[in-house]
Amino acid sequence: SKKIILDCDPGHDDAVAILLAVGNPEIDLLGVTTVGGNQSIEKVTYNARAVLEKAHATNVPVYRGAGRPILRPAQAAASIHGETGLDGVELPEPSRPLEEKSAVQFIIDTIMSEEPGTVTLVPTGPLTNIALAARLEPRIVERVKEVVLMGGGYHVGNWSSVAEFNIMVDPEAAHIVFNEPWKVTMVGLDLTHQALCTPEVQKKIEGVGTDLAQFVSGLMDFFRLSYSQNQDFVDPPVHDPCTVAYLIDPSIVQTRRCPLDVELNGTLTWGMTVADLRGPEPAEDECHTQVATKLDFDKFWALVEDALRRIN
Ligand code: BDR
Ligand code: CA
Repeated sequence: SKKIILDCDPGHDDAVAILLAVGNPEIDLLGVTTVGGNQSIEKVTYNARAVLEKAHATNVPVYRGAGRPILRPAQAAASIHGETGLDGVELPEPSRPLEEKSAVQFIIDTIMSEEPGTVTLVPTGPLTNIALAARLEPRIVERVKEVVLMGGGYHVGNWSSVAEFNIMVDPEAAHIVFNEPWKVTMVGLDLTHQALCTPEVQKKIEGVGTDLAQFVSGLMDFFRLSYSQNQDFVDPPVHDPCTVAYLIDPSIVQTRRCPLDVELNGTLTWGMTVADLRGPEPAEDECHTQVATKLDFDKFWALVEDALRRIN
């Protein structure tokens, strides 16, 4: 099985990522760490605990992380996720207390104590915690297996015309993460805009027939409304679980190795992820970064549905 730490800001699609990680038997979810992003750190941390409660996954610890980006002021995505960060559903009261340790310390301690090359970091929010962890304990960079993150895009933006939310909120953190020599897979908007929750997909989810499946459907209803009102989408793109799906079954997400960096100085383009896709594709030992390009839609949603069926 694959050991992961999910670093997230739930968030409707983060919640689906949590449920996929909990329900899939290939994934060993060591802990959930939170970061200020879609909403304040208090709200997203509560949401992470409540989603785990909803999935009866009280064995999974939650650690609170950074409440604001390294340099810039915090920005929430209330237009997409509402005032609570998970608008549209009712959340259960979490029974498991929040851990005392900080998210950054948990990330470091876990990577330093587990076998080298076995822990994967899966950030689905701004990269603040991951960047801070790499600076505080640089040895995690060679000990981690890989970083598979949702963020950015090589041909598309959503928070500006060229920048994606997770990267644009904390571009300095993203710059740190992209420029450390660990293996980085950027699952950006190019990929996640293929992960649309169509009405057919949602019917299949509802067909699981559990209270949890109904909860996910409620999340999708709100997400559809947000995306149709604010982003000119008919069906909402469910970004964050694409990272976990790629780890479960790499054949679901095609990738392309390429040099990757973040624009910090542009006046119109700051926060843009710049991928050098000029061919030929560099060899593995020449390039530690890659971007996700094509999603196997059917396999992806089948995995989500399967995970929901397994949670009881
Ligand atoms: C990303 O931003 C957040 O609103 C979502 O949860 C996702 O991680 C998409 O740009
Ligand atoms: Ca997110």
